[in-house]
Amino acid sequence: MTLCEPLPSLGAPVARPPFEEAGARFRPIMDAMTAHIALLDGAGTIVAVNEAWKRFADSNCGRSPGYGLGLNYLQLLDGMQGCQPCARCSAEEMELARRIAGGIRAVLKGRSPKFQIEYPCHSPTERRWFLLTVSPFPDDGGPIRAVVAHEDLTPLRAAQEAALHHSAQLAASFSRTVDAIALAIEKRDAYTAGHQNQVATLCEAIARRLELDEEQRQGLQLGARIHDIGKISVPLDILGKPGKLSPPELEIIRYHPQVGYEILCGIDFPWPIADMVHQHHERVDGSGYPQGLAGEDICLEARIIAVADVFDAIISHRPYRAARSREEGLRELALGRGSRFDARVVDALLAHLAEVEGA
Ligand SMILES: [Fe+2]
Repeated sequence: MTLCEPLPSLGAPVARPPFEEAGARFRPIMDAMTAHIALLDGAGTIVAVNEAWKRFADSNCGRSPGYGLGLNYLQLLDGMQGCQPCARCSAEEMELARRIAGGIRAVLKGRSPKFQIEYPCHSPTERRWFLLTVSPFPDDGGPIRAVVAHEDLTPLRAAQEAALHHSAQLAASFSRTVDAIALAIEKRDAYTAGHQNQVATLCEAIARRLELDEEQRQGLQLGARIHDIGKISVPLDILGKPGKLSPPELEIIRYHPQVGYEILCGIDFPWPIADMVHQHHERVDGSGYPQGLAGEDICLEARIIAVADVFDAIISHRPYRAARSREEGLRELALGRGSRFDARVVDALLAHLAEVEGA
């Protein structure tokens, strides 16, 4: 047998008193329930079942008059454990039978106040899941000692699976949106595109060190990959100017976080992408721009991007200067640790770089 094969299919005895009598008092209550319910005596024998149980048995394997009444549920489950896995009864089902039998015994013997397990119960045409609950039943001298209830979780599971699928589709769609934005930047300014990718790689390493969850890391990745999107408003001759920038030119460049925010704030990302872009030049001591935010008023993702951004900018070639050494980058981080930069974020990047160098 399999767990999803109703008990009566085993050629169960046809219901006879006292089984029907034992459950008769509770029948109106049992029949009002949508769960498939069986009442067990102290030995594990099924002494009553409700209408939902019978309907499920009928629909699952055709009409059978016994519905499991008089069968010993524990013996059936124990019998499954003696089987070998076969086409009808998998090793997983046998293990499930062992756990359910153990749970029922624990309830019947008063060792456990309740036993509950969720399990798959697929038919040849339908994927189904059930929740089995076994509860003690003090019957005032009557034979009933436990209630076994099977609740159909299939609609709930189907809704959960649909929601997960929808959520995955949405995340992929957000990612493709960011890809498109990143590509637009790359077409115009290859240096900025390369810088953003390097910053994103460093951000991922920092985020793992800080043990950010996958959801937050995913948002950080997207934000880092387009954090300089606002530079599309900066003329290329300023971006690529080999010499020193004039104060008005610097002012134009310093406006790019605001432009980036204005481009992104209308997109309803499930992460604070627009804030990450807006705040990536803010500094923990309040000395940054454009808003002069300080401390935790700057979102964590922006504090991470800020540290990765500064380090990558130092060690990369710029139109107005050659790349500086890794040591200079490390020195800059150490100088700003705890003042301009979040100390935990700096420590995470330093630990990552030390590991990479040591590798
Ligand atoms: Fe920037």
